[in-house]
Amino acid sequence: MSEGHGEHDEWFFKYPSIYRFLRTIVNLGRFTQPVKEYLRATPEESVIDVGCGVGDFSTVVPGSYEGYDLNERFIQYAQKKFGNGNKSFHFKDVLALPETQLYDKGVVVNIMHHFTDEELKILLARLRKLVTNYFVIVDADWNSSNRFQRWLLNKDQGSHFRDRKDLQALLSQYFDLEDFSVFETRSKSVSLFRCIAKPKHEN
Ligand SMILES: C[S@@+](CC[C@H](N)C(=O)[O-])C[C@H]1O[C@@H](n2cnc3c(N)ncnc32)[C@H](O)[C@@H]1O
Repeated sequence: MSEGHGEHDEWFFKYPSIYRFLRTIVNLGRFTQPVKEYLRATPEESVIDVGCGVGDFSTVVPGSYEGYDLNERFIQYAQKKFGNGNKSFHFKDVLALPETQLYDKGVVVNIMHHFTDEELKILLARLRKLVTNYFVIVDADWNSSNRFQRWLLNKDQGSHFRDRKDLQALLSQYFDLEDFSVFETRSKSVSLFRCIAKPKHEN
């Protein structure tokens, strides 16, 4: 596993609108399109967003949506901005999600580097039971990141950036991975990977 450097608690994580604004400037956009292309959610499908942050990916879901995050200010902001009868946001540790199949699809964007290997295994074991169809997983791709991109990643709160091979090996214990590809934000500030992860059923 390639570790990033220490956990950070930068001031902007306390101000959701400033955090969202800065992130949009740095990335020159919100990279919702690469998630939308893989998710292909229909109005009839329900979607869970694991570590939903300020709720940007709720905008690519036409049907029912639930977002979960441990940053209470982010959740309050998202509920106010995007919440409606069909979309809700919840202040909850995703390591304590139920183990029942409740959703058709899910998104997991940029949160895996917040967890140690042990925590990630607990999370993945729960997630594979939560959806009937698949997750779209997106995270920073440490391998294809240049020095500037790694410097920016180190401003993030998570500190467990992984070698791509190690991450794929971990994910593959719980999911069949399809359509693995690497892309960059419009500003080339971050190099990310995306994939479709179909739950492997326990024997
Ligand atoms: C880099 S942000 C990504 C947010 C969102 N997925 C996005 O891409 O806009 C990582 C998020 O994971 C959340 N997070 C980290 N550990 C968590 C946990 N144990 N339970 C719920 N959320 C967590 C953080 O609060 C943060 O909002």
